[in-house]
Amino acid sequence: MLLLKHPKTGQSLEINEFWLRDHCRCGECLNLDTNQRRYDLLDLPADVKSLEVKCEGIRLQVQWSDGHQSSYDLDFIFDSQLERLISRRSKSTNLTPWNRCIILQNERHLRFSLPQLVSSDEVVRSLVESLVRYGIVFIDDVPPTPNMTELALRRVFPLMKTFFGEMWTFSDKPDHADTAYTKLYLGSHTDNTYFCDAAGLQALHCIEHSGSGGENFFVDGLHVVHELKRRFPSAYDVLCRIQVPGEYVEKGEHHRHTAPIIRMDPLTGEFVQLRLNVYDRAVFDTIPQPQMAEFYDSLRKLLQIVRDEEQQWSLKLCPGSIVLFDNWRVLHGRQAYTGSRTMSGSYVQRTDFLSKARVLGIIE
Ligand SMILES: [Fe+2]
Ligand SMILES: [Zn+2]
Repeated sequence: MLLLKHPKTGQSLEINEFWLRDHCRCGECLNLDTNQRRYDLLDLPADVKSLEVKCEGIRLQVQWSDGHQSSYDLDFIFDSQLERLISRRSKSTNLTPWNRCIILQNERHLRFSLPQLVSSDEVVRSLVESLVRYGIVFIDDVPPTPNMTELALRRVFPLMKTFFGEMWTFSDKPDHADTAYTKLYLGSHTDNTYFCDAAGLQALHCIEHSGSGGENFFVDGLHVVHELKRRFPSAYDVLCRIQVPGEYVEKGEHHRHTAPIIRMDPLTGEFVQLRLNVYDRAVFDTIPQPQMAEFYDSLRKLLQIVRDEEQQWSLKLCPGSIVLFDNWRVLHGRQAYTGSRTMSGSYVQRTDFLSKARVLGIIE
């Protein structure tokens, strides 16, 4: 270990020598155009040692035992430590957990019009910022066709291709073996619990509805998870820990994925994903029977909070407005409906959503 002292802040830091050798930023070690390492980790001697270490102002010069010479920016070294990562993340992620009352007070931050979105990069940025903060936004003034829905979405994100297609339309025609393709009530859920990587965002646009009912409702999973942790900490622990399998089967498709219902970041403790779909659960064989009572009790507590009236934001999706929401955070559902109704929509990959938010400087 090397003990470093920052000349400006006076802070000291113990550094593992192999880490330091592995983080040489010179053009021989790092391709400065692509930001990729130029060597295999095994090319560095496991016992590499510093023979001479000199501090010149903010630069640290190191002569290594493998013959290499490195020159580091001390700010880079101090900024690249776990404590800094945690504090940067907590400062950069501006999330507003909401229930119905809070989201109604903030609704003006959620609405964007297509003509403005098309003509202004600043409006695109605001939309992504609200999507990060609240997990839900609307694009208004969209001609109610699948093509215009696609155009509006592609203005902001690339679309995710699944076996449903890139853009999908659904009505009560049974095109897939899924309750979404009926007129029935659908309780609050997230989609794709059966995919290895559930869609990051989901967009829905009501193209036409000639009957009654069919109101949608949205619930902020982030707020629900906070409530569960506050009111029933042991149920929260169980749902962070127990692996729950989701499954989707239709002709030619068989998807299955197993993960906890609540996922938190093991490094920072931040909320990552609520993965909740009671319909798409597979046979539950991942814990022994003596643990079942505790699991079901915990899941029921979570579902009761989700169903709480004050958590639910209910609204009718009308032709002309696309709702775009974070499928790792915001739950959606719908009332039963009558008449004929066509919805158009799409998914966006999580990684594409977060990449866009980083490029725009919204998240770390
Ligand atoms: Fe859904
Ligand atoms: Zn180097």
